[in-house]
Amino acid sequence: MIKKICCIGAGYVGTPTMAVIALKSPNLEITVVDSNKSRIDAWNSSNSYDFPVKEPGLDDIIKEVRNKNLFFSSDVEKHIDESEMIFLAVNTPTKKEGEGKGFAADLTNIDECAKQIARVSSSNKIIVEKSTLPVRTAERLKEIIKKHKKNDVTFEIISNPEFLAEGTAIRDLFKSDRVLIGCDQTEAGLAAMESLVKIYKNWIPKERIIKTNIWSSELSKLASNAMLAQRISSINSLSALTEKTEAKINELSLAIGKDHRIGDKFLNVSPGFGGSCFKKDILNLVYICRQYGLEEVAEYWHQVVKINDYQRKRIFNIVNSTLVELKNKKISILGWSFKKDTNDTRESSSIPISSDLIINGASLKIYDPLAEKKQIIQDLTTYLESKDLSLKEIKSLLSQVKIQSTLSECLTNTNAIIVLTEWDEFKQVDWQNNKLNTSQINLPYIFDTRNILDIELLKSLGYEVFQIGNGDNTIK
Ligand code: NAD
Ligand code: UDX
Repeated sequence: MIKKICCIGAGYVGTPTMAVIALKSPNLEITVVDSNKSRIDAWNSSNSYDFPVKEPGLDDIIKEVRNKNLFFSSDVEKHIDESEMIFLAVNTPTKKEGEGKGFAADLTNIDECAKQIARVSSSNKIIVEKSTLPVRTAERLKEIIKKHKKNDVTFEIISNPEFLAEGTAIRDLFKSDRVLIGCDQTEAGLAAMESLVKIYKNWIPKERIIKTNIWSSELSKLASNAMLAQRISSINSLSALTEKTEAKINELSLAIGKDHRIGDKFLNVSPGFGGSCFKKDILNLVYICRQYGLEEVAEYWHQVVKINDYQRKRIFNIVNSTLVELKNKKISILGWSFKKDTNDTRESSSIPISSDLIINGASLKIYDPLAEKKQIIQDLTTYLESKDLSLKEIKSLLSQVKIQSTLSECLTNTNAIIVLTEWDEFKQVDWQNNKLNTSQINLPYIFDTRNILDIELLKSLGYEVFQIGNGDNTIK
């Protein structure tokens, strides 16, 4: 029976997942390790404000289990060696250079973990792939381990991809639609799988635990993300058509989603999907298909990402043409995180849209309830660097940006307001009062890219409004 677990990677997946396992399995001793010491120190902080990942419900669980059966440590090797089961929850970003650049998953972190586990282990281990990985990664890990292991220790690799979504991670972990575990169909593989099944059975009904071969499990994760993102690109692509035809995308989503064969989830229009997973995982799928010579399949999935880029560009173009000239215009950006209820800003649509606005001369006031000022500046800097701008040019562009600490600072003295994240705070703005407070003769244009505002109310107050895919827009 498993008693000690180590999880490598104290990020958005590693920490919430281990916190919930610790809560539901008091007899297990779990240590989350990370090579980033400051991240570990932050998780050990007595003030939950310092925790690096903001996720509703997470703080309370950590307060309950930390230093009882959940520990955070930067002594990676010690905890690898002491554990019977090791989860790999390290990041697997898109490769920035070399073979597969811009598409393939960068497996450097995973490879490093495999080498380290092989080197330091003095007892048998079950290695659990929790990170999202290309299909057949387990084969690669076996090769690495074989090359680096020092003694007769045995290693069994199983796949257990994570399906949580940020902002609802704890809810998702408590009530998973399914837990997927894949293993080699050997006696040792099946035994390793059962030891993990036993842990999940502490709170997941057994009919929700799906057991497959290891390759199906690895590929299911990429395929699930691709199909979720495909729905968003489908509805976003149709939003361009509803704008032209006086149809309304929200009514379309409702009508389509009522068909139980389709279902009503993931049919919300948006400025394009963000987050660390969808784009990276689809590009990885595209790369894998190409590796196997499946060019048509690769192109089919690539189109999901291309429509996402198109939607972002489309929004910039609508703002640009409405304001006629962006130079010297003040624009307020409401929302920086890629969705509400998270501080994660990775791949947020706010980044390219805002960058294009400042490149074209606009000045921005940006407000987000959780994203930190330094993160917003970092995101803009990284994006502008990718456009081959010089340091001097980037510095000058950043001088056009002000990060505000309250929403109200963004609502007045501005030419346009763009809602880019669906934070609840934005739904609660008192527009009537705001209108009275504004000293401007012209009210700001409002671009609601999440369709969360009351367009009829705004119109009645005299605002000119654009909502995605809404044929009734006052701004065409
Ligand atoms: P993250 O960047 O938040 O966390 C990863 C952590 O791993 C970092 O703290 C990093 O310092 C650490 N790390 C990297 N290499 C290491 C090494 N060799 N030794 C020790 N520590 C190391 O990433 P994340 O968002 O938690 O994602 C982790 C994996 O889970 C990825 O493969 C991702 O695709 C997948 N995933 C993410 C989500 C999500 O919502 N973020 C959901 C499902 C699956
Ligand atoms: C996603 C998957 O949902 C999750 O199962 C996987 O484990 C990790 O990747 P995440 O990226 O955290 O989760 O959030 P998700 O809720 O999927 O949203 C991703 C992006 O799509 C966000 O920018 C969100 O605003 C956008 N989105 C979502 C839409 O534009 N429309 C929708 O209908 C739903």
